[in-house]
Amino acid sequence: MVRIGLLGCGFIGKVHAKAYAQIPDAKVVAVVDRDSGRAKEVAEELGAEVVPVVDDLLSRQDIDMVDVCLPTYLHADHVIAAARARKHVLCEKPMALSLEQADAMIEATEQAGVAFMVGHTLRFWPEYVAIKDLVSRGELGKPVAVAATRLGTAPTWSWDRWLLDPERGGGAVPDLHIHDIDYIAWLLGKPRSVMARGVRSANGCWDHVFTTLDYGDGAAAFAEGTFLVPPSFPFTMTFRAICENGTAEFVFRSGVNIEARAESGNTLTVYRKEGTVTHPEVAKEDAYKAELEYFVRCIEEGRRPEITTPGDARLSLEIVLAAVRSLESGDVVRM
Ligand SMILES: NC(=O)c1ccc[n+]([C@@H]2O[C@H](COP(=O)([O-])OP(=O)(O)OC[C@H]3O[C@@H](n4cnc5c(N)ncnc54)[C@H](O)[C@@H]3O)[C@@H](O)[C@H]2O)c1
Repeated sequence: MVRIGLLGCGFIGKVHAKAYAQIPDAKVVAVVDRDSGRAKEVAEELGAEVVPVVDDLLSRQDIDMVDVCLPTYLHADHVIAAARARKHVLCEKPMALSLEQADAMIEATEQAGVAFMVGHTLRFWPEYVAIKDLVSRGELGKPVAVAATRLGTAPTWSWDRWLLDPERGGGAVPDLHIHDIDYIAWLLGKPRSVMARGVRSANGCWDHVFTTLDYGDGAAAFAEGTFLVPPSFPFTMTFRAICENGTAEFVFRSGVNIEARAESGNTLTVYRKEGTVTHPEVAKEDAYKAELEYFVRCIEEGRRPEITTPGDARLSLEIVLAAVRSLESGDVVRM
């Protein structure tokens, strides 16, 4: 049994809480949130204790692992503090807002000898996993042109509207676009260069972005992300990998938001060069549960997570920061 301390009971903290409740080997024993009402609600649901102060949670001996579901600008300090308290740490994406913070997080967790994983959810999302498996097995040949889209309304629900603050959340590029950038990097690795164009909101955040990633050797990738669609626009994500011997495509359109997703029409399709078109069966598994269950299992088995390593999360952040530099300067940024 892995005993967990949950930091942050907002949007994603609640999603994690629901997932832990379905994982037999995980038990959330304590939660912290500056909003005591939110902390109480989650604690009651999980039979956990509300702890008013983070340090008090970190000093508890009955906690093996800390899950950081706090606003992004608080990730680095809390991951480092958890590592120093010798807790294994899961941290929501994006890892941090700067590479200096990311390096300090990696150093602290390595020095403490604890497991550390950043929640890059698409690496556990069944259809994205299925495409990755097809590509890794070489079934479709080399990917040559991949494209990803992620269209969602601005997260005005975030605590203190931190997500819409360039200093604390950074807007759509580090928050939303990083999902696709991370997935593309999982598939293709580090690009040679990045070029981004986009739209800047009045708050100073780049809230619509088009990024192209150059992989040389006849391969390229493109990702589009936005916070600018209205709330009535269904959350949409798509991914297409055109490979030498076929194309895999996933299209997901939710209901009015991701929780109200309509099952129909959300499909993975594989088009092979010789003419067959198939819809591979994928597990109907919740990606968040799969992600948390994987990390819990790694802790139980005493091994380091491999599906997504701290170095992978750092690379995704590095690419996203390069995209922001390209947006700011108009230049192609070499990696
Ligand atoms: N993997 C995903 O799909 C996904 C989805 C949504 C959010 N996220 C990430 O999760 C993180 C949190 O986002 P969110 O949407 O849940 O935000 P949120 O604003 O809904 O929740 C943040 C919570 O932290 C609490 N909080 C703020 N400062 C605190 C402090 N100093 N001490 C204790 N509690 C504090 C707030 O009261 C709030 O309940 C972000 O990094 C975000 O990018 C990931």
